[in-house]
Amino acid sequence: MPLPAIQSFERKIGRQLRLLEVRKTLIERKIERQIRLFEQKRDGIGRKIDDEVRFIRSWIERPLSTGAVTPSGKILARTMARYVDPDSSGPVVELGPGTGPITDALVEAGVDPSRLVLLESNPAFCRILHARYPEATLVQGDAYSMRRLLDVMLLHPAAAVVSGLPLITKPITMRLRLIRDAFDLMVPGAPFVQFTYSVAAPLPKRLGGFSVEASERIWMNIPPARVWVYRRTDAR
Ligand SMILES: C[S@@+](CC[C@H](N)C(=O)[O-])C[C@H]1O[C@@H](n2cnc3c(N)ncnc32)[C@H](O)[C@@H]1O
Repeated sequence: MPLPAIQSFERKIGRQLRLLEVRKTLIERKIERQIRLFEQKRDGIGRKIDDEVRFIRSWIERPLSTGAVTPSGKILARTMARYVDPDSSGPVVELGPGTGPITDALVEAGVDPSRLVLLESNPAFCRILHARYPEATLVQGDAYSMRRLLDVMLLHPAAAVVSGLPLITKPITMRLRLIRDAFDLMVPGAPFVQFTYSVAAPLPKRLGGFSVEASERIWMNIPPARVWVYRRTDAR
């Protein structure tokens, strides 16, 4: 074979090799992406199962205060978060965050984690919350003592109070005191957001001084739930 033909052949082979190299790199990147996605999904499923197990354990140990056998589903959590304006200023208080599904939805909706004040009574849930939301302020304590626990801690009035507490298990006087304490910590017009599995409203609909609105019933939750939003309308 004459020399120019050999050189042209070599150039062709060189080009083919470079093309192969580029293709190989692209395929490797695609495989790495798929592996990462798979790992993320597997970790997500693992975390979900862990949370379910911890919740059931907590429900067996303290059924009344846990108030549910499973954490809130994504649709319920997102519905709760929708009532909080992520562009508002001031802390966002969450009562009874449990393993954090509503906390996740708040962060996903754009609430800066450093604005979150998580008030949870169960120490096992507090450990999970501390690991998952290191920037949030975590308070282990009784939400019904919110005024004493948060009054000095909050440097500004809260933009919202979001509650996953099993309110319906408490006498009405305690529920009313809780919502009044919450309003005293919030800016005027800020929402107190509460979900309930009960058909009845967690607080009487015709409460003096408060406006009330409710979401559709969320059937895609176990058990189905509804979100209630209360805002103070009186001048206090
Ligand atoms: C129905 S679970 C909701 C958990 C979570 N927000 C969710 O949606 O999956 C009620 C949560 O409120 C907490 N809790 C119950 N009573 C409380 C109280 N007095 N103070 C603070 N947290 C309380 C429970 O430990 C539990 O995490």
